[in-house]
Amino acid sequence: MRKKIAVLVSGKGSLLEAMIKGDLPIDLVLADRPCRGVDEIAANAKLPTLLSPRSAFGKGHAFNRVGYTNEITRLLLEAGIDVVVMAGFMTIFSGEIFTRYSGHILNIHPALLPAFKGEHAVRDALAFGVKVTGTTVHVATSELDNGPIIAQQAVPVLDGDTEETLHERIKEVERVLYPATIRTFAGID
Ligand code: GRF
Repeated sequence: MRKKIAVLVSGKGSLLEAMIKGDLPIDLVLADRPCRGVDEIAANAKLPTLLSPRSAFGKGHAFNRVGYTNEITRLLLEAGIDVVVMAGFMTIFSGEIFTRYSGHILNIHPALLPAFKGEHAVRDALAFGVKVTGTTVHVATSELDNGPIIAQQAVPVLDGDTEETLHERIKEVERVLYPATIRTFAGID
């Protein structure tokens, strides 16, 4: 039987859009906040969606990360999800998802890991002055941006690049690489 896939989003959802255009079977789109990914992209494609808003965002705001992670894990299990795909999902999980879905959570990070981990990978790469950066698909583990690497692709940094122009060129690569990697990982075709 085909593995059931959930895509987790927080933002623009352009990677989700690419997956939909590429006919990747998606069983659930889950968001941690209202965003284009869930409100427009998933809704227009008539995919099942779940909005599970966080109680708080940002430093200095109390947020029960383990409790939130466990609630998401419960929702994913209830939906019968086998593979969890993070696509611009901005909540860092902490808790039982990494045991219940061990080895079955994918993330894509806009840098060539292990370089430039964290939230500002594109900005950090640009600030460091690298001439080549790129994107990494990896298995997500409890250590941020540190799980086994599945696929990588380089993207050159061009003279005059800003964080926006460079990130957009990285995303162009991600929109092809991620859906293809998910297909192979989930044994679809
Ligand atoms: C991608 O660059 C991905 O590497 C990072 O978040 C971005 C998601 O873009 N984790 P979008 O929200 O799908 O447009």
